[in-house]
Amino acid sequence: MHHPDLIEKDIRDLIRNETIAAAEHNRLICVRHGMLWYRLVPGTAATVEIVAIVVTEPNQGIGSSLLAYLYEAVPHATRVIAQVKADSPASGWFWMQGFRHLSEDAGAGGMITFRKKLTERETDD
Ligand SMILES: CC(C)(COP(=O)(O)OP(=O)(O)OC[C@H]1O[C@@H](n2cnc3c(N)ncnc32)[C@H](O)[C@@H]1OP(=O)(O)O)[C@@H](O)C(=O)NCCC(=O)NCCS
Repeated sequence: MHHPDLIEKDIRDLIRNETIAAAEHNRLICVRHGMLWYRLVPGTAATVEIVAIVVTEPNQGIGSSLLAYLYEAVPHATRVIAQVKADSPASGWFWMQGFRHLSEDAGAGGMITFRKKLTERETDD
């Protein structure tokens, strides 16, 4: 059984190391009061995953502009996906941003995978 402090330290180290790696690979978009961390999904030609998007001053358009920066940063991408807890408020936000459900895990605490197509000819329905 791990001590809770050790688990917390492991998680902190993991987040720090992963965030540094994301920044080194230009997969971290940072603006005042917000950041978006993304990755290219291995094994796919042009799918980008939003690993995390966090805004500290909500409802001021910062999340929307982070998405716009992402779309600019990955001009080759045709699809963006994001996994969100089903009961998270971010779930409604992604829907508002034009994302639609790709899959939904059943059960409490389930995750929804949202996807948005970026090509003009394809619809999001
Ligand atoms: C989700 C999050 C990134 C949104 O960023 P934001 O800067 O607050 O969003 P914006 O200001 O760009 O968007 C605001 C718009 O979305 C709408 N909106 C915000 N939350 C919403 C929700 N839960 N459901 C529906 N619409 C929502 C607002 O009404 C507003 O609409 P308007 O432009 O028509 O007025 C932010 O709230 C956040 O950091 N949440 C905590 C972290 C998180 O859950 N991240 C996602 C998982 S990694």
